[in-house]
Amino acid sequence: MVNVVHTRKELAAARDGLAGTVGVVMTMGALHEGHETLLRAARERADRVLVTIFVNPLQFGPDEDFDRYPRTLDADLEICRRVGVDLVFAPSVNEMYPEGPPTVRLDPGPLGADLEGLSRPGFFHGVLTVVLKLLQLTRPDLALFGEKDYQQLTLVRRMVRDLDVPTEIVGVPTVREPDGLALSSRNRYLSASERRAALSLSAALRAGAAAAERGDDAGAVLAAAHRAFDAPEARLDYLVLTDTDLEPGPVSGAARLLIAAWVGATRLIDNTAIHLAPRS
Ligand code: PAF
Repeated sequence: MVNVVHTRKELAAARDGLAGTVGVVMTMGALHEGHETLLRAARERADRVLVTIFVNPLQFGPDEDFDRYPRTLDADLEICRRVGVDLVFAPSVNEMYPEGPPTVRLDPGPLGADLEGLSRPGFFHGVLTVVLKLLQLTRPDLALFGEKDYQQLTLVRRMVRDLDVPTEIVGVPTVREPDGLALSSRNRYLSASERRAALSLSAALRAGAAAAERGDDAGAVLAAAHRAFDAPEARLDYLVLTDTDLEPGPVSGAARLLIAAWVGATRLIDNTAIHLAPRS
């Protein structure tokens, strides 16, 4: 059995018992193969692996899926056991926020209000606040985050840099189904026909990447991606090509193509690396 603790006090004692370097993987549970890849990457890079499982109410809007977000602790613990996780911290909401929702929250800056932040106001305030709390509580040498949530990864890197948090942040490539769908805990909300429509997201990214490989410029890459996003059941939220730090402005060389779309009542995101040919 994997060692599971639920309170800060238990965590502090168990954390003190972890010798060597510690890698943390923060999750909201409902673990899938994408998380498993993160856990295995942590296993390879650190002496000890600590996983947090906490559905953070701060990062859900009033109309979002906090209540119905899948909670599958037993199955999650089985995955942790299989991968050889050393310690799991699975606190309650009250344990994390004993005085209720915190009045002081991290400000993610302008990037926090763009892309995901446009559709989900306050989302990154909630994410960064819990990530910083979990970093303080778990004191890891490194923390691993999936590239699937590329804006989150970018903001966590910035937070750690801007606030001198002594943890190395490691990005881990997205895991996909054989047909291209990026793994996500929210995929389990999709009906069979919605799942087919959801393939439009990765199809758009592939078309954009293929256009870039042919030497197309940024405009043509975006146009190719838009053409490939073709599913009546899916509604595009954004499809953007930016630099790898998600800074506004013209892009060249290494870039990132990011997409978000609604498929039925489910909002999905995905992204890919793009390499634009130098402008002549
Ligand atoms: O990516 C997630 O699952 C969450 O945003 C995180 C990092 C665990 C914070 O709640």
